[in-house]
Amino acid sequence: MTAERTLSIIKPDATRRHLTGAINALLEKAGLRIIAQKRLRLSRQQAEDFYAVHKDRPFYQDLVAFMTSGPVVVQVLEAADAVALNRRIMGATNPAEADEGTIRKTFAESIEANSVHGSDSPENAGQEIAFFFSDDEIDG
Ligand code: CMP
Repeated sequence: MTAERTLSIIKPDATRRHLTGAINALLEKAGLRIIAQKRLRLSRQQAEDFYAVHKDRPFYQDLVAFMTSGPVVVQVLEAADAVALNRRIMGATNPAEADEGTIRKTFAESIEANSVHGSDSPENAGQEIAFFFSDDEIDG
């Protein structure tokens, strides 16, 4: 099967608690290759644009504030079926509903401060990867 790519974000609640390495270890153990990665601080505009699909949801302004509250680590993950595999290892959006052993069950603080983001479809993965990375920054 051809390798698929997905975008992952390690969120400010996780970088603040120095969990980047622990989360990367879980991703790699699950078979996801980290083929690009950078740590940065999202501008308000970037956070608004990245989460534009949620702009009419009641949590949107809080989400933008949270995502700009500290550094994030944006990453491109590659594997066969990477989108679904990453979503499985992340666990449910709400950590209270996440399965044992998932990243969110293990580390997330709340439905908002839920430690990681992962693309929800291969199509969105392509758009989200292009949001943060140029082709020459990705070494498959
Ligand atoms: P993420 O996968 O990054 O996509 C949207 C984010 O909105 C989600 O993870 C949560 O961090 C955040 N969020 C905050 N409140 C809610 C909510 N009630 N339902 C879904 N997502 C929420």
